[in-house]
Amino acid sequence: LENGLMRKPPMGWLAWERFRCNIDCVEDPKNCISEQLFMDMADRLAQDGWRDLGYVYLNIDDCWIGGRDSKGRLVPDSKRFPHGIAFLADYAHSLGLKLGIYADMGSFTCMGYPGTTLDKVEQDAQTFAEWKVDMLKLDGCYSTSKERAEGYPKMAAALNATGRPIAFSCSWPAYEGGLPPRVNYSLLADICNLWRNYDDIQDSWTSVLSILDWFVNHQDELQPVAGPGHWNDPDMLLVGNFGLSFEQARAQMALWTILAAPLFMSTDLRTISPQNMDILQNPLMIKINQDPLGIQGRRILKEKSHIEVFKRPLSDEAIALVFFSRRTDMPYHYHASLAQLNFSHTKVYEAQNVFSGDVISGLRDDTNFTVTINPSGVVMWYLYPIKNLEMSEMFQ
Ligand code: DGJ
Repeated sequence: LENGLMRKPPMGWLAWERFRCNIDCVEDPKNCISEQLFMDMADRLAQDGWRDLGYVYLNIDDCWIGGRDSKGRLVPDSKRFPHGIAFLADYAHSLGLKLGIYADMGSFTCMGYPGTTLDKVEQDAQTFAEWKVDMLKLDGCYSTSKERAEGYPKMAAALNATGRPIAFSCSWPAYEGGLPPRVNYSLLADICNLWRNYDDIQDSWTSVLSILDWFVNHQDELQPVAGPGHWNDPDMLLVGNFGLSFEQARAQMALWTILAAPLFMSTDLRTISPQNMDILQNPLMIKINQDPLGIQGRRILKEKSHIEVFKRPLSDEAIALVFFSRRTDMPYHYHASLAQLNFSHTKVYEAQNVFSGDVISGLRDDTNFTVTINPSGVVMWYLYPIKNLEMSEMFQ
């Protein structure tokens, strides 16, 4: 969507995966979906280095709605959001953050709260703009395919008509099977800044793998439709939660970065470990994710050894590689050369290991190298050309 927003994949925090629809503020006051939770996360985003690295979105998901007032306007649950959403937006803005909100193109949200039916689209867009919200995630439960086909473009137009720049995240394709011809990705790129293509992520490695498999199996359809202002969204990062090992957490971060995915964390930033913070705050990782060309990467090799190689072209002729192991035995020594990974034979590269910082210099296309990849882990390289070879040098 050419609204000037999200020229790079958005980064921030989204409540859903970690905090779900926990509305029990009596038994669980610190973790229920409430103003306090969002203010706590806003404080952490601003104070613990996140915002300055680009994690600026603070996003509310389902279960915030209390109902509609006498004029039909959405209102938040008054016990859990006593000061209202405009107050939260002001709070976020005062800390240099942006506030995202959630609605559902249908009769109810997925958790049964009031939805945004076709007749309410314009009013709800107006309400969000008045509250100074910066992003809307529009879910798709409790609607027909026909209603969604009318509703998502209608919301895009309604948001635009408010005059406030509001980024638009569409769950539409996830409700239509995610693939052409049922999903029209060129239309989506015109009306949405990002879209959920596939299933919800759950706190497990199995879930990460099933999402990854689906995106890779359909990369021919999906890879070309992403770009500045319009991104595929494989869903939130699990890093910091309960389901992934250290290697798996790094793997999700690296693979999502190769896929030019939005980086929405969904974890408790009040208690996250230094190790998990390091994964999410790796500056070179973020630089790769945020590369201005905005080209989504692809899986380029799938070896019998259960090693897979992913590649993403970056600006300034740089390239990111991820060597991913699906093995379950022990660290594997993978032998390769850049020639096998379709690199140019006229250049000499330097490779920086994204996690360790180690640099390997003087890589020609025929240089043999070995990477040691842990089970369900990755090795990630950032490569940049340091020399163009003359014709005469190429055959030495
Ligand atoms: C389905 C969405 O895909 C999830 O990300 C989350 O928003 C839930 N609905 C909320 O009910």
